[in-house]
Amino acid sequence: MAKRTLVTAALPYANGPLHLGHLAGAYLPADLYVRYKRLKGEDVLFICGSDEHGVPITLAADKEGITPADVVEKFHNINKKAFAELGISFDYFGRTSSEAHHKTSQDFFKTLHEKNVFVEKSQDQLYDPKADMFLPDRYVRGTCPSCGYEEAYGDQCEKCGTSLSPTDLKNPTSVITGEKPEFRQTNHWFLPLNDFQQWLEEWIDSRKNWKGNVLGQCKSWLNEGLNERAVTRDLNWGVPVPLPGTEGKVLYVWFDAPIGYISATKEWAEQQGNPDRWKTYWQDEETELIHFIGKDNIVFHCIMFPAMLKAHGDFVLPENVPANEFLNLEGRKLSTSRGWAVWLHEYLEDFEPDLLRYVLAINLPETRDSDFSWSDFQSRVNSELADILGNFIFRTQSFLNRYFDGTIPELVNPTERDTEVLNAIAEYRDEIGKLYDGFSLKEAVLQSMNLARLGNKYFTEMEPWHLRKSDMERCGTVLHVCAQLTAALATVFSPILPSKMAVLRKELNLPDTDWNNISSTLLEAGHKIQKGTILFNKIEDETIEAQVRRLKERAGEQPASDIPELKETATFEDFMKIDLRSAEVLTAEPVPKSDKLLKLEVDIGLEKRTVLAGVAQQYKPEELIGKKVCVVANLKPRKMMGVKSQGMVLMAEDTDENLYPITTEAPVGSIIK
Ligand code: MF3
Ligand code: ZN
Repeated sequence: MAKRTLVTAALPYANGPLHLGHLAGAYLPADLYVRYKRLKGEDVLFICGSDEHGVPITLAADKEGITPADVVEKFHNINKKAFAELGISFDYFGRTSSEAHHKTSQDFFKTLHEKNVFVEKSQDQLYDPKADMFLPDRYVRGTCPSCGYEEAYGDQCEKCGTSLSPTDLKNPTSVITGEKPEFRQTNHWFLPLNDFQQWLEEWIDSRKNWKGNVLGQCKSWLNEGLNERAVTRDLNWGVPVPLPGTEGKVLYVWFDAPIGYISATKEWAEQQGNPDRWKTYWQDEETELIHFIGKDNIVFHCIMFPAMLKAHGDFVLPENVPANEFLNLEGRKLSTSRGWAVWLHEYLEDFEPDLLRYVLAINLPETRDSDFSWSDFQSRVNSELADILGNFIFRTQSFLNRYFDGTIPELVNPTERDTEVLNAIAEYRDEIGKLYDGFSLKEAVLQSMNLARLGNKYFTEMEPWHLRKSDMERCGTVLHVCAQLTAALATVFSPILPSKMAVLRKELNLPDTDWNNISSTLLEAGHKIQKGTILFNKIEDETIEAQVRRLKERAGEQPASDIPELKETATFEDFMKIDLRSAEVLTAEPVPKSDKLLKLEVDIGLEKRTVLAGVAQQYKPEELIGKKVCVVANLKPRKMMGVKSQGMVLMAEDTDENLYPITTEAPVGSIIK
């Protein structure tokens, strides 16, 4: 085992409030892991902070008509507060606008510059003459060259995940003025990721225990071949490029932000009165660096930042990057612009933090996207937290207080069942510990609840309310077992429900917690406990209905602009150029290494064709086989993920980006006009 662990959670952009998706994606899993490690007595440091640079911030400022500094000040504070209230136990929450961060990231850049790592080049870039500025990243939108999505950003296509640069987009428009940009020459520094390709391949191959989804994305990047990436931008908000004659240029946000993990650790060490202490976490090989992130951050944490760290040479490399998939909301993709989100600060006005921690933790999007719904929230709170965990604990506490004067009774002649239940405590401790260590956090939470389930079942089976009248000694033994389980649960659940378990430990007069001590002898006979309180109240239907109503109203209030505007007028001749045919889907199969594409074989009457369709996230292959669909039959063939696609299956897309194949009853080969 490593001597110490440095855990980071993705620095959230300070351009808006945080929602449930953020919490489930990075911050809650990181916090569960860290709290578990702390309980084990391990040396673990938990670092995060606000990502305050880049186009997401300046765009938010433009939109609200305030300065970028105002934007980050506002959201840094809102987000920091929400994290604190939710019990996300960072050791330090920094921000990338801090002086220390500017210095650290500039020094980092200078080191790479001096080592001749960068390539400096003058290039044509998109420029908006009306706004009088270059248009980096999200300042441009246009058509994705790889999947044809028309709303792709200049840095990434949200549809197919391809990472782009603004000049890759077809039909680019400026998001500021809506104008078509022109080209202008400008000078930039590039990190030649291609120089790191071989090293990265070997390094990633040597990563044991990485999650499949993470390795899959890394390998697909590496298979496509890495390119140079600009690490500077023409913007007036960010960390200034620390070289002479670079007025108006700043570091690319994805260059400076991950260095924020280092700067924040330095600030933490400073605050501890031990300014050099950051070095033990970043420079001692016996530190395990773990990055908790959402899947959209994988390439930056598994390819770009490791290449930067390697090039620099003074820092440890990540040991693991347990990235999560996405959380959906009521069956739909979360969308802040459409108002389809539950904001953390809003949640906290109505409910206790621990309830959300549990419900999200038992449903983490660990290996696939998961869904949060208010009805599931209610049923998990009512039937798991209240009816199982809370009920067992409260029954035990009340019984002890009522009939044993709040004193733990002796264990006398335990039966086989008693011993089995007592032994289960250590078994669960080890099993759950293993799950935490292996980043199977959701399963760890499930097993924690299973221990409570066992307790509840045992209590019911033993019927101490009868024993009390017939055999007080036997009754005492049963309550002794229940008391040990309760004490064990107080520690087992403390990563998940930190504030509730703090209350419980106080009631049990069990001040210290230590994972290693979870056992069947936590409370000695004769130990005194206090009166118990009901830890979890049930949530009424009306309360939940109100939440659903609020969500729907807000989403409905959004401008109808959700429905995309009409395209330019096409002539009849334009339309007639397209040869549409009815076709039958004969086979369908996934495309290796692509989570979007399905490879279909379709019969268009004249011949059979291979066609790729970007529907893998919504349709299983077997759902499409046998369907008669409309195909664009004279589309120029195009190669994607190494497969040649000879045509396109027509799909309708709703405003939530759900796809619906256009089916037809016409015989195969019919012309559609
Ligand atoms: N701000 C980014 C996001 O929200 C994450 C930055 S992570 C860091 O997607 F490593 F760059 F800090
Ligand atoms: Zn795309």
